[in-house]
Amino acid sequence: MKIEDINFNEMYVNQKKETTFKSKKKESWNLKADAMNKTVHRSMYNEEFLNLINFKDINSLLDIGCGVGNLSLLIAPKVQEVCSLDFSSRMLEILELNAKKENIENIKTINASWYDEWNNVPKADLVIASRCLEVKDMQMALEKLNNQALKKVVLTYKVGGSFLNDDILKVMNKKINKKPDYIYIINILYNMGINASLNFISSEGRSTRYLNVEDFIKSVSWTLGEINEDEKIALEKYYYDNEKDKNSSNDLMKWAIISWDKA
Ligand SMILES: C[S@@+](CC[C@H](N)C(=O)[O-])C[C@H]1O[C@@H](n2cnc3c(N)ncnc32)[C@H](O)[C@@H]1O
Repeated sequence: MKIEDINFNEMYVNQKKETTFKSKKKESWNLKADAMNKTVHRSMYNEEFLNLINFKDINSLLDIGCGVGNLSLLIAPKVQEVCSLDFSSRMLEILELNAKKENIENIKTINASWYDEWNNVPKADLVIASRCLEVKDMQMALEKLNNQALKKVVLTYKVGGSFLNDDILKVMNKKINKKPDYIYIINILYNMGINASLNFISSEGRSTRYLNVEDFIKSVSWTLGEINEDEKIALEKYYYDNEKDKNSSNDLMKWAIISWDKA
């Protein structure tokens, strides 16, 4: 068998169906938006993401799955036009308020999903899709990104097949089915004839991101679904045991940053 004979997208689709980590509906993201707006703008992730992009000759941005606009707002001063797309209307409302507060006037928003027709979505020099590629069919999403880009695509995807680190799962005594890891994306792109670059960046882990144990537990249960009393107690212990590691490299989430230039 040769690597060209492997249909990586089919493997991705099958593993995605089986994973414990179900994709969230827009209503869940609407409920998450206000809390996200309190933490995401000061994350180390934004700077690490931007540091890896060369903005020479980039005049327009399309930010897919933009959330509350942490990246759109930072890129807006570097380009002429920004279009920020998300299926959560609350995320976009907050993004617009954030832009107003900062007197940023070159961002327009589009309320749409990965699964909609993107007839009204403009093409842009740079297309980004940061931490938002929880899709049923990865090749469909990658083709959409590639079609919208005039010069460059940059996306990020969680490393390791789980949104919870192994230590958290271990203290909860939880067995999970991992989701497809980032390496599928590199291989699906290869199947599509695209040779992508790969790098890695970090964001704060959960016990650093959350300022109190209640928010920490809420975030784990948002990711995993309902959690029982014993799991709650185990998570409380984990949170307090790990407070000492806050801001240390023991509590970081790793993201693959995958990019390619249009030929
Ligand atoms: C983890 S946030 C990432 C926000 C921002 N890009 C960042 O990296 O900080 C994921 C975002 O993707 C959006 N999203 C999830 N599924 C989507 C879909 N099917 N279509 C469009 N947006 C989606 C969510 O509403 C949310 O704003």
